[in-house]
This record gives sequence, C-alpha cells and structure tokens, in this order.
Amino acid sequence: MLTGPNMDKPILSVEHLSMKFGGLVAIGDLSFQARRGEITALIGPNGAGKTTVFNCITGFYKPSEGMIKMNGRGGQEFLLERMPDFRITAHAKVARTFQNIRLFSGMTLLENLLVAQHNKLMHASGFTVLGLLGIGGYRKASAESIDLAKHWLEKIDLIHRADDPAGDLPYGAQRRLEIARAMCTDPELLCLDEPAAGLNPKESLHLNQLLNDIKENTGTSILLIEHDMSVVMKISDHVVVLEYGRKISDGSPDLVKHDPRVIAAYLGVDDEEVVDVLTAVGDEQVIEELDAEPDPEHGPSASSSMMAGPISDTIAHADEDEIVKVSPGASKALEYDEVQALSTRTAKPAAKPAAGKARAKPAGKPKGGRK
Ligand SMILES: Nc1ncnc2c1ncn2[C@@H]1O[C@H](COP(=O)(O)OP(=O)(O)O)[C@@H](O)[C@H]1O
Ligand SMILES: [Mg+2]
Repeated sequence: MLTGPNMDKPILSVEHLSMKFGGLVAIGDLSFQARRGEITALIGPNGAGKTTVFNCITGFYKPSEGMIKMNGRGGQEFLLERMPDFRITAHAKVARTFQNIRLFSGMTLLENLLVAQHNKLMHASGFTVLGLLGIGGYRKASAESIDLAKHWLEKIDLIHRADDPAGDLPYGAQRRLEIARAMCTDPELLCLDEPAAGLNPKESLHLNQLLNDIKENTGTSILLIEHDMSVVMKISDHVVVLEYGRKISDGSPDLVKHDPRVIAAYLGVDDEEVVDVLTAVGDEQVIEELDAEPDPEHGPSASSSMMAGPISDTIAHADEDEIVKVSPGASKALEYDEVQALSTRTAKPAAKPAAGKARAKPAGKPKGGRK
C-alpha cells in the first residue's frame, strides 16, 4: 500500500512554527516531523499549545510565523499555513477530531458518516440535479459512500445502532463515531485531539485497538494529542513534548518518558527542586543547560495560570488499576518517587496527574532556570 513518490518523506514537517495571541506566545519556534504510517503523539501539560498546533495545521488559525509542510501520497507538497481550511481537508486530506465532541447529535450514525462524504458525493453529482437523480456517477458514489460508512460502523462496533441518533450514544461511543466520521473522508493524516478524554479503561483499550487498526490497515498516519499515558506510551511510535509552547523533548516513547525535563514538567516540581530531580535522574548535561539564563518570553503568563488544572489529581496505573492520590500539599519528592516507582515497575509513566499542576503556580512567577 505504501508506495509512491513521497513515501520515504515525513508526511508532516512543522518548521519554526510560532503562534502569538497578543502578548502570549502560545507556540514558540516549534519544529517537529511526523513520519508516514506512524502514530506521532503530541503531549504536554494543559495550556502547552497542543490544540493550537492542531488549529494551525488544519487552517483554523494562521500561524504568526513558520511553515507546515505536508507531503501527499501522490507526490504533491502542500504548504498548509497558506491554505484555507476547506482545501486542507479536501486537497491535502487532513482530517481532525475535536477536544469537545462535535457530532450532528440529531442525525443518525449513518447520516453523520454520509455527511462527512458530502464533498465526494457532490463531485459525483457534477453539482446538477440530473446528477443527483442518478445519471452519471452519483448512484455509484452514493452506494460506495454507504458501504464505506457501514465499514466504519462495523469497525467501531456500532453497526447495530446505525439508525439511532448520534446524541443517544454513550460518551465513549460518540468518541469512536467521531473517529469513524473522520476516516470516512479517507484522510492521509488524521489529527485526534484527546480522543481518550473521559473514557473508562475498557473504552480506552478499544480506542488503542482502533488506532492500531487504522495505522496497520489504512495507510493513514496519525497525529495524536493525548493526556492518557496508557494510550500514548502503548501505541505511539514517536512522541513530541511541549511545555509553554516550546518543545522540551522529542523521540521514542521510551526516550521521552525517561527525559528529566518531561518528568519535571509533568510533576510541576518547584524550581528549586528541578535540580534535585535531575540529579536523581543523573543527567548532568541537562542540569547545566537548565542553569543557563531563563528565557523571559515564555514563562507562565497570567492567562496560563488561569488554565491551572485540578488541585488534586490521580495517577492511574493502567495494568493493575492502582490509583495513587496526589494532594496539593503532598511532598513533591514523594510524588516523584511514586511516579518513578510506577514507571520502573510498569515501564509506563503515570503522567496524567500534574498536567495542570505546572500551571498552578502564581501568575508571572519566573520559572527559575527552566527552559
Ligand atoms: N484563540 C485564542 N486566543 C487567545 N489565546 C489562546 C487562543 N487559543 C489558545 N490560546 C492560549 O494559548 C495557550 C495554549 O492553548 P492550547 O493550545 O489550547 O493548549 P493545550 O491544548 O496544550 O491545552 C493557552 O494559554 C491558551 O489560553
Ligand atoms: Mg487542548
């Protein structure tokens, strides 16, 4: 399946991307690549800029600076930052789902999947009434669209509910339907914004299977924003970590989860404690780097502190359903030990908790020597 002129190039290259909202640098000089046929995860604490990256890729925002290049299967090169959003969907073949579910809740499941194929059907109709009445390719296209919709309803185990309104589905099923809807547009790149949010462990497992199935069997590459580390570490080929709009780590799941900067960012350790954490992890080079001058442009801003996450969090242990409660007053060193212990026992980090915690500091407090 994977043959063609651009197959050996990354499907997406983000180069020196910046997005500013007034004085706030939501994304600062971000570069990364997503390889074709892989699942690339974009992770980071709340407000790190992940959704903003998606909004730039899919044309919802025009970036302040930088380039977003997509290499199409047919050899075309698309500069997404220069294209309007509807062309990004139709020509570059980028599909997305949203952090908050956006389905047509009054329409049936089948209708939701057919509406997604509207472009293809209108082309087949030749945009004429005669076309719609079945002269030309419309009937064939319409039958194909129904087949494709049924195929995806089967994949997500919802074929038995094809004629029910989408709004009647449980939350986890709606999340799967959104992914099916995106897949009905036959995307080359599928961008998923926190698809596991709100899912129970069983639904999370189904999601993993669905995403692996898409990766193995469709040729669609996936860019995944996700907080649930049991999803990220299991299915990603490559992980990019953002904090305050900057990239702090980039590599295999194994590399990223042992990166002291990532551990520090996720635990939200105080500035004085960063060095302790790094010393414990034993990374002299990073300690030296962190001793360098702080970058005044990307400390936490007033708006970022307003995005502070919950004041108490849980660390879920996916395999044994073990939950470690971390209260706001708990010793940071203890949190660190617990997470390290979890990650060595399970080879999986328990990172969900402190997502908001890094932001829960007083507004404007400089981040010591952190980069
Ligand atoms: N349209 C916007 N206007 C102003 N600020 C925004 C806008 N969109 C995002 N931001 C800010 O950009 C930062 C990154 O937000 P976002 O990309 O949603 O983070 P994440 O998805 O990583 O949680 C936040 O501080 C947020 O308040
Ligand atoms: Mg987001």
